[in-house]
Amino acid sequence: MIERLAVIGVGLIGGSLARALRAAGEVGEVVGCGRSAANLELAAKLGVIDRFSHDQGEAVAGADMVFIAVPLGAMQATFTAIKGRLRDDAVVTDGGSVKGSVVADAVAAFGSVPRRLVPGHPIAGTERSGVESSFPELYHNRRVILTPLAGTEPDALDRVAWMWRTCGAQVTSMDVAHHDEVLAATSHLPHMLAYGLVDALARMRENDEIFRYAAGGFRDFTRIASSNPVMWRDICIANREALGGMLKSFSDEMADLADTIGRGDGEHLLEVFERAKAARDRYVDGIFEQAEPEADRE
Ligand SMILES: NC(=O)c1ccc[n+]([C@@H]2O[C@H](COP(=O)([O-])OP(=O)(O)OC[C@H]3O[C@@H](n4cnc5c(N)ncnc54)[C@H](OP(=O)(O)O)[C@@H]3O)[C@@H](O)[C@H]2O)c1
Repeated sequence: MIERLAVIGVGLIGGSLARALRAAGEVGEVVGCGRSAANLELAAKLGVIDRFSHDQGEAVAGADMVFIAVPLGAMQATFTAIKGRLRDDAVVTDGGSVKGSVVADAVAAFGSVPRRLVPGHPIAGTERSGVESSFPELYHNRRVILTPLAGTEPDALDRVAWMWRTCGAQVTSMDVAHHDEVLAATSHLPHMLAYGLVDALARMRENDEIFRYAAGGFRDFTRIASSNPVMWRDICIANREALGGMLKSFSDEMADLADTIGRGDGEHLLEVFERAKAARDRYVDGIFEQAEPEADRE
């Protein structure tokens, strides 16, 4: 049981964690923190939090668990604001989509990564944001990746893993750099493709007509381009090295595909499509079948 949970950033990710813990009956008081009074008042009205403060240091006072779910660009300032304000036994974790930058932000703010700070990332989300989009089942059957460091206290790690399992998630651990590489490929690159495609089409002269006839596959493929732009700007900057590498090798693949099409090389096209179909059927459908259709992976 968590006695007092402080949620810094009561949006989709933070709000859903608070709702899930409440639904499980595993949290006493929830204190929210953010900049906008309207969002926090709504969070209180919806019963996601019990009370709030705009002051991050004040919000974490007395909390035994602190969850930070602000955009990556606000992590360092958040760490700085809570420094010296935490209970000695408080466990701190976060939901940021890139882990190397969170670790670097913690070092910049605290001097070294606190032993009771457990970096984490729920592989769950939707293209919507704000507390009104949060729901208690978001983490059901979703993976949460924790990226503990050599100095992380085992009981802090256990506590965070327990918290996520209580929300219905499957918890795995990974090295920080490996996490950022894997996520660059599986999440960050697809978001860049969706944003890039929609933006390129929207800037074409005939874009009204293009979007009028866009349905089915286009809608499915580009839905993630409706995600929060600030969050995605921060993810790209925070993971620029791994994502830059992925984008480069993907553009080489696209150039190769364009060449193949230009040559009218049907045999090579079939080879590529059959290989891709087999890979998707084998891995992705297997994974998606175990998950709920509603909550989309980030
Ligand atoms: N959405 C996803 O699919 C997803 C999945 C996994 C992980 N994540 C990660 O989870 C974190 C939160 O994402 P989210 O989707 O929950 O976003 P969100 O719904 O927009 O919520 C973010 C919250 O942070 C607060 N905030 C925004 N800018 C801030 C700043 N500069 N300083 C302090 N607070 C700030 C916002 O409230 P105020 O504006 O009132 O301050 C808001 O309540 C991000 O780090 C993201 O990388 C997101």
